Amino acid sequence: MSDGKENELAQTNEKMSTEQYLKQFHTDFDPVYSMLTDYQCAVMEVETKFRILNNRLSINGEHNPIESIKSRVKEIDSIVRKLEKHHLPITIEAVEENLKDVAGVRVICSFVDDVYRVADSFLAQEDVTLIERKDYIKNPKPSGYRSLHLIIRTPIYTENGKKDMFVEVQMRTIAMDFWASLEHKLRYKKNINPEIAEQLAKELKACAEESVRLDEKMLEIRNRISADAAGSQS
Ligand code: GTP
Ligand code: MG
Repeated sequence: MSDGKENELAQTNEKMSTEQYLKQFHTDFDPVYSMLTDYQCAVMEVETKFRILNNRLSINGEHNPIESIKSRVKEIDSIVRKLEKHHLPITIEAVEENLKDVAGVRVICSFVDDVYRVADSFLAQEDVTLIERKDYIKNPKPSGYRSLHLIIRTPIYTENGKKDMFVEVQMRTIAMDFWASLEHKLRYKKNINPEIAEQLAKELKACAEESVRLDEKMLEIRNRISADAAGSQS
């Protein structure tokens, strides 16, 4: 089968399952699509805020604190599964009131101090309201996972006026992101022998600890470079 045909088939299958999930909302497709678009707009607003901060914080010869930004809006099937898991009704209202991670923005910073510097400037903005802050950098998860998680509320402006949206922001360094991506793969591989999975989890935890040292060392080197550059200028 040609690639084109295969893609078409994959898309049809995906569309059918998405439609089945959509049907569970007991409403037309339009309001659900409109809700997902609102989340997409919220992601765009938040991404822009971080892009602006990246530019502003890198004036005066400073480095760019943000390495990259990755965003996503939760898929409709994950939304329905999460509502079911929490015994919530499958309605747009239930999503908008209870699910705070439908819009997700991941900000990857160069160094650990950049994470806090960018987070502080972001949270100081008038139209960003902090709802919940979880600092898994200071208090890593038992898995070894490190990141700063912020649930915030921010407005979007649509043709119908202003609407406040929840957005989940995950902030981490390159080392933390590298680790989390690999660990995520292990977590979602269903066919690994439990004994091997346990051993791998232990080894990944040890890698997480090494990544802490790597982040600390990189920060120290950067500070020495900055101090030396400042010294040779004066
Ligand atoms: P849920 O949102 O229901 O998942 O739980 P929660 O509200 O307690 O969320 P939490 O802030 O702890 O983390 C949610 C998100 O953080 C996940 O969807 C992942 O993206 C990420 N995360 C949390 N723990 C881990 C972990 O151990 N490994 C990896 N790779 N990612 C994690
Ligand atoms: Mg969550």
